[in-house]
Amino acid sequence: MPASSRLLAGHELASPYKSLHDSYVSSRRDSKCPVSALLAAAALLVLGILLAIAVIERLKYEDRINEALNPHHTPSCCNQTGPDQQSSIVLVESFPLGVDYGRNVSAGVDLYEAWKDLLSLASDRIEVASFYWCLTGEDISVNSSSDALGREILEELKALPSRNVSVRVVTSIPTLAPNSTDLKTLREHGVQIRRVNFGRLTKGILHSKFWIVDGKHVYIGSANMDWRALTQVKELGVVVYNSSALAADLQKIFQSYWVTGRSNASIPHPWPSDYDTDINEERPLLLNLSGVESKAYITASPPDFCPDSRTRDLDAILSAIRGAQDFIHVAVMEFYPASKTFHHHGYWPVIEDALKRSAVDRNVSVCLLVSCGRESDPAVWPFIRSLDALHSPSDNINIAVRVFVIPARNQSHIPYSRINHNKYMVTDKVAYVGTSNWSSDYFNTTAGVGLVLSQDASGSSFHQQLRAVFDRDWSSRYSHPLADLHRTHDCAFSTSAP
Ligand SMILES: *[C@@H]1O[C@H](CO)[C@@H](O)[C@H](O)[C@H]1NC(C)=O
Ligand SMILES: *[C@@H]1O[C@H](CO)[C@@H](O)[C@H](O)[C@H]1NC(C)=O
Ligand SMILES: *[C@@H]1O[C@H](CO)[C@@H](O)[C@H](O)[C@H]1NC(C)=O
Ligand SMILES: *[C@@H]1O[C@H](CO)[C@@H](O)[C@H](O)[C@H]1NC(C)=O
Ligand SMILES: *[C@@H]1O[C@H](CO)[C@@H](O)[C@H](O)[C@H]1NC(C)=O
Ligand SMILES: *[C@@H]1O[C@H](CO)[C@@H](O)[C@H](O)[C@H]1NC(C)=O
Ligand SMILES: *[C@@H]1O[C@H](CO)[C@@H](O)[C@H](O)[C@H]1NC(C)=O
Ligand SMILES: *[C@@H]1O[C@H](CO)[C@@H](O)[C@H](O)[C@H]1NC(C)=O
Ligand SMILES: *[C@@H]1O[C@H](CO)[C@@H](O)[C@H](O)[C@H]1NC(C)=O
Ligand SMILES: *[C@@H]1O[C@H](CO)[C@@H](O)[C@H](O)[C@H]1NC(C)=O
Ligand SMILES: *[C@@H]1O[C@H](CO)[C@@H](O)[C@H](O)[C@H]1NC(C)=O
Ligand SMILES: *[C@@H]1O[C@H](CO)[C@@H](O)[C@H](O)[C@H]1NC(C)=O
Repeated sequence: MPASSRLLAGHELASPYKSLHDSYVSSRRDSKCPVSALLAAAALLVLGILLAIAVIERLKYEDRINEALNPHHTPSCCNQTGPDQQSSIVLVESFPLGVDYGRNVSAGVDLYEAWKDLLSLASDRIEVASFYWCLTGEDISVNSSSDALGREILEELKALPSRNVSVRVVTSIPTLAPNSTDLKTLREHGVQIRRVNFGRLTKGILHSKFWIVDGKHVYIGSANMDWRALTQVKELGVVVYNSSALAADLQKIFQSYWVTGRSNASIPHPWPSDYDTDINEERPLLLNLSGVESKAYITASPPDFCPDSRTRDLDAILSAIRGAQDFIHVAVMEFYPASKTFHHHGYWPVIEDALKRSAVDRNVSVCLLVSCGRESDPAVWPFIRSLDALHSPSDNINIAVRVFVIPARNQSHIPYSRINHNKYMVTDKVAYVGTSNWSSDYFNTTAGVGLVLSQDASGSSFHQQLRAVFDRDWSSRYSHPLADLHRTHDCAFSTSAP
């Protein structure tokens, strides 16, 4: 089935009016028989009453949320501005050993410190979603002292249940780390673990990476629970402290993995109303983040895991691109306008098209920073070259592409390392931090999440900081024009790439 009709089918299935629609159609079919018509009419009446009760119940529930979130009783359901919630936001980053920008640059809080901080705050419960787990070198038969920080995080997680902090973990089948000892050890220490078979459920993977701590602090970012994320891979993420509304929203996504992690589980169609959200692109959460008025919402993929009320990750990305008026700065590990699983049948220029339209039709300046490392797929380069080829400032088309390469140096014995793994975008309007590569499978079959934030642009905000971080990387010694790729010896595809 083509993607459009599949998406449409998914949309219709998830519609809250589905049951109503079905009975309407069947009652029409039956209308030849007057008795059936009467029965159908009675059934519709009952259904109507039930729906009305459901709506009233739901309104009551929303009222309660309103009251809890907003003592001043404004009509918006999603306003967290109040004295009881001192929310703050922190940009978090990690850098592979040896990476040195050679000057005083702005950088986020160290990822390891941020994780340690969240672990120390936990007093009740932690939920963690990670594609795979690999916090020690043994798991991948690597002997490197640079796994020390990973080991430490594992030790702290192991100790949580004995501190009466309940820990729930979801991870993917299929996985990159089939022999992970972490999960075995964690289970022995009382951590509850579910492996969600996205391979069976959607033909994808669970690629989300996030934490929820005590139902009020959240981490979302590119880092898996992998020691390399702390010392050998460049990661970027965000921690929001003290936002129970945002945490409760992310909790719904966690719960959708938790329930589908039962053996033989199937994906509910539609998702029960508990999974609906009040926070989305149309109605973002209003909150004061580190003193800056902000609007935030959490996106998800794949569509099969999104109730209608949840803004899909792809839709949020497209709308950020379309909404930009001045610039679009994108840093993604991989940008590939096609499907990897449906190779030659999978051309998918959806994001590429939106970027080109912004640049060509609206004179928005686009900068795309992609990554190249030993495991990078050479199939991406022809597409990236084609985008770069459009760049023609004299015709008012600004699409600049650069490649971020982290030298392997003497760390080349460590697989899947020395790569810029981050996935974010900053435009003149919004900051977006996600977990997905920008290729079709990630939005169609694979589980991922994103945080979209718009903030008052003046002053020092997360938005401004993310912009500075992009500029830092873009103008750093690790960033190369496409044409120079063959001169950077640590990017293994230097010979096959341009
Ligand atoms: C999305 O996935 C389905 C199978 O799960 C596949 O048939 C379809 O071609 C995919 N669409 C794209 C755009 O890759
Ligand atoms: C949110 O709440 C604050 C104070 O509680 C109020 O000033 C503001 O107008 C509210 N915003 C919306 C959109 O309801
Ligand atoms: C780096 O810059 C910050 C502010 O931009 C300043 O506070 C700090 O002292 C500087 N550090 C060095 C080593 O120059
Ligand atoms: C790991 O390497 C260190 C030195 O780098 C060595 O002392 C140690 O025995 C090695 N461990 C294993 C299991 O090979
Ligand atoms: C954990 O909870 C149990 C039962 O509620 C209690 O007996 C025990 O003292 C608690 N342990 C810690 C370390 O708080
Ligand atoms: C996992 O272990 C099995 C057997 O113990 C081995 O054949 C396989 O290569 C290992 N896989 C990885 C990725 O290390
Ligand atoms: C979270 O809020 C509490 C008060 O409720 C405050 O003491 C704490 O400093 C806040 N934490 C952060 C990281 O902002
Ligand atoms: C799951 O499905 C398999 C095969 O269809 C079956 O053998 C097994 O009993 C099922 N397990 C549960 C818990 O339902
Ligand atoms: C936002 O919070 C800071 C303290 O965290 C406070 O000083 C400021 O007045 C708040 N702004 C608004 C608009 O509520
Ligand atoms: C397009 O934007 C650039 C700045 O990015 C500006 O210099 C140029 O004048 C703009 N061109 C038009 C036709 O608006
Ligand atoms: C790599 O080189 C650094 C210094 O450049 C050194 O400290 C480190 O021990 C070396 N690591 C390995 C695995 O050889
Ligand atoms: C996308 O990112 C993941 C890690 O997040 C990486 O392992 C993978 O090679 C990238 N590309 C594809 C097509 O999966």
